Amino acid sequence: MPVKRVAILTGGGDCPGLNPAIRGVVLRLAQEGVECLGVREGWKGMIEAKADPLAPADVAWIVGKGGTVLGTSRTNPYKKEGGVDKVAQTFKTLKLDALVAMGGEDTLGVAAKLFGERKLPVVGVPKTMDNDLSATDYTFGFDTAATVAVDAAERLRDTGLSHRRVMVLEVMGRHAGWVALFTGIAAAADYVCLPERPVDVKDMAAKVKAAFAARKTALVVASEAVDLSDDGGKKKELDEFGHEVLKDRGVAERLTAVLQKETGLEVRSAVIGHIQRGGAPTLFDRILGTRVGVKAAELVLAGRFGDMVALRGNDVVPVSLKEATAKLKTVDPAWLALLDQLTALGGKAKVAA
Ligand code: F6P
Repeated sequence: MPVKRVAILTGGGDCPGLNPAIRGVVLRLAQEGVECLGVREGWKGMIEAKADPLAPADVAWIVGKGGTVLGTSRTNPYKKEGGVDKVAQTFKTLKLDALVAMGGEDTLGVAAKLFGERKLPVVGVPKTMDNDLSATDYTFGFDTAATVAVDAAERLRDTGLSHRRVMVLEVMGRHAGWVALFTGIAAAADYVCLPERPVDVKDMAAKVKAAFAARKTALVVASEAVDLSDDGGKKKELDEFGHEVLKDRGVAERLTAVLQKETGLEVRSAVIGHIQRGGAPTLFDRILGTRVGVKAAELVLAGRFGDMVALRGNDVVPVSLKEATAKLKTVDPAWLALLDQLTALGGKAKVAA
C-alpha cells in the first residue's frame, strides 16, 4: 500500500539538529508526493491528536534554526491513563500511514514498544545532546552542545588566568559523560569529572595544584551527573521515564568547596546548563540531521518500520529500534585512559612565553 501521509514528532530534551532532520524528512517525502504532518510536543500530541500540516515551504529555511519547530515534551504514553490506546487511535484519526519519531532513549523506547506490542508503523531518528544511544556512532545535538561548552570553558580560563583562580565548568549530559569528556579534551581541561567513575578528590586536587603552579590557573570540567558520594538521603525527583531530574544537584558548587578546601586556592564555578541546547546547529549537526532525516523518509517509503536510522562510520544505515534502545552508551575505558594520559601529560607543562 503506498504511503500517503506521514507524521513527525520530536520528544524529550530538544537539541540543535532537530530542525534539519525534520526538513530532511519533509523534503524527501514531498518528492514522492507524500504529505507530512507535524505532531505538537512529542508523544503528548499523539495522545491528544494534535498535529499541523508541514509542507516543504514550512521547512525551507529551518536548517540553521535551533530547537524544534514542532515543540517537545517528556510525555510518556505508557504512564498516562489510556495513553497507548489514544496514540493508536490517533494513527486512525489522522489517517497516518507512518510516524517518524525523533528522540533519545525515552522517546525511541516508546516507539520500539509501540512497534513491538502494537505493530504501529514507526521509524526512529536518534537525537540527543548526551550522545548516549548505543546503536549509533554520534547523535546530532552533541557536536553543537560540546562546541558551546568548549567556548564557555575557554572563556572561563581567560578570566581564571587574569585572577589567578581555579575555574570549574559544569556541563549537562545526564548519565553519560560524553559532553564533559569531549569538552575537557578539546578545551585542554586539567581535570574532568565524569559520571562513569567516582571523583577521586585527592587526584583532582593534585592535578589542579600542579596545573596552577605551572600556568597560574586551572580548569575543571564536570558532568552534572558525577558521583560526589555525599548525596546522603536527599530525595531524588524522577521524570515520567524514571530518570533522575538533575537540576538541583549543585555539582559545580560542591566541587568548588571541595577544591578550595583541598588546594587552598581561590575557586569559581559556572553552570552552562540549557545554553548548550539552544542556538544554531553546527555544520556537523546540520549535515547529520539532514542525512538521518532523509534516510528516515526512505525507510518509511520502503516500509521498514521498527527501525531507527544510525550513523555507522560515515554511513547512515537502518538498525532495529529494539537494539538501539536496549543499552545506554557510556564513556568506555579506552576513552578514560586517553583522558587520563592527557591530564597527566598536560599537568606540569608551562605555557611558552
Ligand atoms: O537528555 C538531554 C538533557 O539535556 C540532559 O543532558 C539533561 O540532564 C536533561 O536533558 C535536562 O532536562 P530538562 O530540559 O527537562 O531540564
